[in-house]
Amino acid sequence: MKQPSDTSLSGPSPNHLGDFQRSILQYYDRFRRDLPWRGETDPYRILVSEIMLQQTRVETVLRYYESWLKQFPNLGTLASADSTEVLKAWEGLGYYRRARNLHRAAKHIRDILGGRFPTSYRNLRQLPGVGQYTAGAVASIGFGEIVPAVDGNVRRVLARLFDKREPGGRWLNRTAADLVDKGRPGDWNQALMDLGSTICTPRNPRCEDCPVQRWCTAHEQGTQALSPAGIRKVPARETSFLLIVLQTEEGEVMLVRRPRKGLLAGMWAFPEQELAKPSDCAATYRDRAIEVARSLGAEVVGHASALAEVQHRFTHIHARYRPWVVPVAKPLSGEENVWMIPGEQIDLPIPVAQHKVLNALAM
Ligand code: ADE
Repeated sequence: MKQPSDTSLSGPSPNHLGDFQRSILQYYDRFRRDLPWRGETDPYRILVSEIMLQQTRVETVLRYYESWLKQFPNLGTLASADSTEVLKAWEGLGYYRRARNLHRAAKHIRDILGGRFPTSYRNLRQLPGVGQYTAGAVASIGFGEIVPAVDGNVRRVLARLFDKREPGGRWLNRTAADLVDKGRPGDWNQALMDLGSTICTPRNPRCEDCPVQRWCTAHEQGTQALSPAGIRKVPARETSFLLIVLQTEEGEVMLVRRPRKGLLAGMWAFPEQELAKPSDCAATYRDRAIEVARSLGAEVVGHASALAEVQHRFTHIHARYRPWVVPVAKPLSGEENVWMIPGEQIDLPIPVAQHKVLNALAM
């Protein structure tokens, strides 16, 4: 065991693994967060929670989890749902690829696996959208398999325990695998996640409350702020889009279905054009908006006007949307477009930035 006088930088030693695990599990039993998926045994529900929690804060997921399960209580209901319905239920949660993959996974289990949910890490990994972390979480929590689940929180806990500045994927997986409690692997993984999100936080960790402080090399060295080094993020690309808001005299506006691939695939949004060279020249935008409106078959019946810019951050893109409203006589509707009154509910999945524009129009 690492004692205060111990100078090795090895975190918990194999001889004292039991004490280390007990300390973490006791902490978990006393202080675990009360979350709706805790104590859950249905693997489908566990999978839903883990997919929603990818890159998303617990507080945000709490707003979606129960209503999703009400709408899609099991694999069968999700597998037979329409993709529009699935995206609508995910609306606002972001990273919509997760919803599409979850839907595909449900169909895969129904159609290819005869409705039998995969019960091992290895087979879970075959599902669309299920990577190492999610497979580890579902296998350990749902099936008691002794496998690790390393998310961002666990990465930080391990890096600090061993004072590893740049923990690589292989080191993390090996270290996490060596530490998993064999009796309670699911609780173990969730305990590490909780420790990382409540005590071993990125800034100002609460080391005085940490159940494993005495084994923590970063604490001993005072290097909590250095381990792990921040992940160097690729800076988001700044991209501007012209949004063309066709509006009829009655106030209806037109949304089109986005392409099946790419950003916000399959969602419903205003027609857009990427602006290669954003300029501040309003006349240029006005002309282009009118041009696009005409190319969509609309008859322009008034002066186009600008709405306030709306911004949205995706993983790799910082998008700026410049909405221009073009008054039109309503052209024919098609399969890939729909007319709606801003402010009224509609059963189609609409991206957050477009909702902001719709709200501005509804005011
Ligand atoms: N983050 C991802 N999965 C989690 C879980 N099961 N509990 C708490 N936080 C999590």
